[in-house]
Amino acid sequence: MSSGCWSPLPGMADLGPPEIRLWQRVEADARRILALYRVEELRTPILERTSLFQRAIGEETDVVQKEMFTFEDRGGRSLTLRPEGTAGAIRALCDVGAEAGSRVFYLGPMFRAERPQAGRRRQFHQLGVELLGPPAPEADAECIALMWRLLNEWGLADARLRLHTRGTAADQPAVREGLRARLAEVRDALCEDCQRRLDRQPLRVLDCKQAGCQQVMAGLPALTTFLAEDSRRYLDRVATLLSSLQIEAMVDGRLARGLDYYEHTIWEATHPALGAQDAIAGGGRYRIEAEGRVVEGVGFAIGLERVMMALQARGVAPPPDPAPAVWLVSVGDRATAENLVLAERLRSAGVPCGADWSGRSVKAQMRAAHKAGAVWAAVRGDKELAAGTCRLKHMASGEERTVAMDELAAVVSGSA
Ligand code: HAM
Repeated sequence: MSSGCWSPLPGMADLGPPEIRLWQRVEADARRILALYRVEELRTPILERTSLFQRAIGEETDVVQKEMFTFEDRGGRSLTLRPEGTAGAIRALCDVGAEAGSRVFYLGPMFRAERPQAGRRRQFHQLGVELLGPPAPEADAECIALMWRLLNEWGLADARLRLHTRGTAADQPAVREGLRARLAEVRDALCEDCQRRLDRQPLRVLDCKQAGCQQVMAGLPALTTFLAEDSRRYLDRVATLLSSLQIEAMVDGRLARGLDYYEHTIWEATHPALGAQDAIAGGGRYRIEAEGRVVEGVGFAIGLERVMMALQARGVAPPPDPAPAVWLVSVGDRATAENLVLAERLRSAGVPCGADWSGRSVKAQMRAAHKAGAVWAAVRGDKELAAGTCRLKHMASGEERTVAMDELAAVVSGSA
């Protein structure tokens, strides 16, 4: 019986050619756009102390309660594979004493112990952005504009944006109380989980996917009714700024973001080509207390698996394999050894080149050249080595000619 150790774990996947080429294109586009916004890369460890996520994301969140891959190391410390990037980015920025004005992005794997399904993985990749600075509707609008530009640049202009606010910490008691009071009136219509959540975390009821609870939520007043006037004005200002940027956002009082660090603006983007897991990106403004310091900022993360799924659903294929300009074909052992040296010389001159060192027949080597999509094949045996030449064949037309070795690089790179 197979032990299964040679297949990836459930919810985790290998990523190689040809799909990786689409990932690389998406990442290259992103890096170019991020530079326009003066956002620089930050790479943080994948493994962090469990307490970092408990403090930053919030003890009561689903992510912390149910979805973290947590284990004890040999020294008895509790460690967790990062379930998201904001906590680690803020830790790293505090570590180097970064101030308001820091602008970073990260791109890499995140881990959540969720039940795998289409678009939901246990290891998935995020492109995240964090822009540190105090609350300002313009800063939030700029951050959303960056996310929107990335989605547009990749060809996902048909994503939809929902926008709302958490209000400030000062608003929270009124929001919780207001919501709890309304929900208590219809307690029996809520699922068992939500009845339990009602007292401690009434906001979590917003996240519940049960039809009964969704119906109850649809009948409740928008959360903004419980917010202070200033918080409502802040949200209006962000919405106005977005429309001045021609970004269409639907203000949605039912928008729930499952992370506790948010304050003020929150948002989520969905894409119509995705199935049940249609959130392609999410973000918001946050306030995180880190070792006596309060860090304020705004950011988002885009789920890259979902970007790829949406692109594939739109018929976007990975770019083709980069074909070598020339394939070196060897006749005999001496030519094989000389061609190894030649291959390195050509690559030093910037010429992409391939060869097959298996000592197979010329016919088999020509087949390999063809399969690799090489433009030219350069054939050398003892005779060519003695003459300082090679037989150069143009693969598409089949035309052949003799070329002097010192001209080969120029001919195959198209500059002669
Ligand atoms: P999030 O909404 O938890 O936000 O995740 C952002 C995106 O990551 C989601 O919209 C989704 O596309 C993708 N994603 C999340 N979980 C999975 C999964 N199990 N499988 C595949 N894709 C997934 C955050 O993580 C915040 N840190 C965003 C943020 C940055 N807020 C402020 N700064």
